[in-house]
Amino acid sequence: MTVMESKDFSYFFSDETNARKPSPLKTCIHLFHDPNIVFLGGGLPMSKYFPWDNLQIESPLPPFPKGIGASPSGSKEDTCHVTVKKNETTKAGETNDIPLSRSLQYGFSQGQPEFLSFVREHTDKIHKMQYADWDVLATAGNTSAWESTLRVFCNRGDTILAERFSFSASLYAAEAQGVNVFPVPLDEHGLIPEKLEEILDNWNPEAAKPKFLYTIPTGQNPTGSSLSDDRKTQIYRIAQKHDFLIIEDEPYYFLQMDAYEQDKSRRVQKNFSTTEEFVASMAKSFISIDTEGRVVRLDSFSKVLGPGTRLGWIVGSKQILDAYKMLHEMTIQNPSGFSQSIVAGTLNRWGQEGFLDWLIGLRREYNEKRDAAIDALYEYLPRSSFININPPIAGMFFTVNIDASAHPEFATTYKSDPELVEQAIYEKVVSSGVLVVPGKWFKSEGETQPPQPASSKAVSDPNNIFFRGTYAAVPLDKLRDGVRRLGDALYEVFGVAK
Ligand SMILES: Cc1ncc(COP(=O)(O)O)c(C=O)c1O
Repeated sequence: MTVMESKDFSYFFSDETNARKPSPLKTCIHLFHDPNIVFLGGGLPMSKYFPWDNLQIESPLPPFPKGIGASPSGSKEDTCHVTVKKNETTKAGETNDIPLSRSLQYGFSQGQPEFLSFVREHTDKIHKMQYADWDVLATAGNTSAWESTLRVFCNRGDTILAERFSFSASLYAAEAQGVNVFPVPLDEHGLIPEKLEEILDNWNPEAAKPKFLYTIPTGQNPTGSSLSDDRKTQIYRIAQKHDFLIIEDEPYYFLQMDAYEQDKSRRVQKNFSTTEEFVASMAKSFISIDTEGRVVRLDSFSKVLGPGTRLGWIVGSKQILDAYKMLHEMTIQNPSGFSQSIVAGTLNRWGQEGFLDWLIGLRREYNEKRDAAIDALYEYLPRSSFININPPIAGMFFTVNIDASAHPEFATTYKSDPELVEQAIYEKVVSSGVLVVPGKWFKSEGETQPPQPASSKAVSDPNNIFFRGTYAAVPLDKLRDGVRRLGDALYEVFGVAK
């Protein structure tokens, strides 16, 4: 089968990207590592003056039989030992380790070869890429990769699309760059393709079309929803029809779980006898259905290894990744060298299979926490028709959806304004000793100039408010206690008898 090359999407680039010249110094930096070259060309400190001689790291050993939370004892049986030396004994890419003399040096703005090769193989294993010229680029996590995305594609005044409720840091980053984030309705299954198409079919021809859709397909932040494979295919077709890119921000992709089963006696956790079975169980990604380089995928180790690694990667066409790389040469240069040495040293010893074993273990843990959170919500929240719980199938978040008009003082004290009810509940909940956050904090409200038809922003449930909580951050006993406090607050606010 012939595998196609990606299409040229450079017409989406921002003025900044189009104006950027390659840094001439970066074009010769690779020669620093050529033993035949006496390198007098750049301001690189000698690694002799890096004070670290080696890094000694211990992590649990795949297949993690005691669970991923068990600390390694230090013995050979359950501990993966990594020693990363300072000095290079081989050429870049020849061993699995990134010596400190290289990782702590300038250069390799795409990422260190040993890190990139692991991530490339992982990406192809999971997403089975469908076009030839794709690649990966190391990032300092998705927050930074998103900021880069805005700069690579957007000018002030441009419009992008996003789920009507989306990760507030992403929205604020766009807003600060003068980018309008036009909201697309979503439901408990994520962004609604029919609504997206309707918005674009009726797009005001006087306004520039959106350059891309920013979406969090799995365990969406803040709604906890996950897009089905069918919806993704529909959305991809709409992107082709209306010609825009898709940016999938996927830090929660590997926190996919079994569907919630309320009846505990019928609960069986899915067991995977092979890692292939696990991979086959994963939701389709947008990048996996992309045949033309229209999708840019932002991946992060934050939720699967640790946020402080500040390490992630972007998957996309080489043409698009080049634009990111040239930007990074002027901004982050590259993610932390320590981080790349530690993560690549660990993952290359665990191997692809070992990393998948880790992710399977993580899935098990999150299943348990999600179940505990949803069990507690059903136990402690008022069983009233105006309160709706959506058990998530991925990610870290649950939401409690409330019909604000059910509040006894909706029309009087709160003048039929659902956001005033939302604020009042938030204050009550916090004073009851638990923090869940109001959905309105995540609302995208951008508008084009001239504006879109009013019908494009119409929502079917204007009085629906919601609160986002997480089961990720606390142990199970605290989780139950927090949910109990939330329940008590809601009983009181809505005057429901227990
Ligand atoms: C949708 C989304 N994107 C990005 C991030 C941040 O990711 P990172 O730690 O990789 O910057 C988060 C969460 O913190 C998130 O929910």
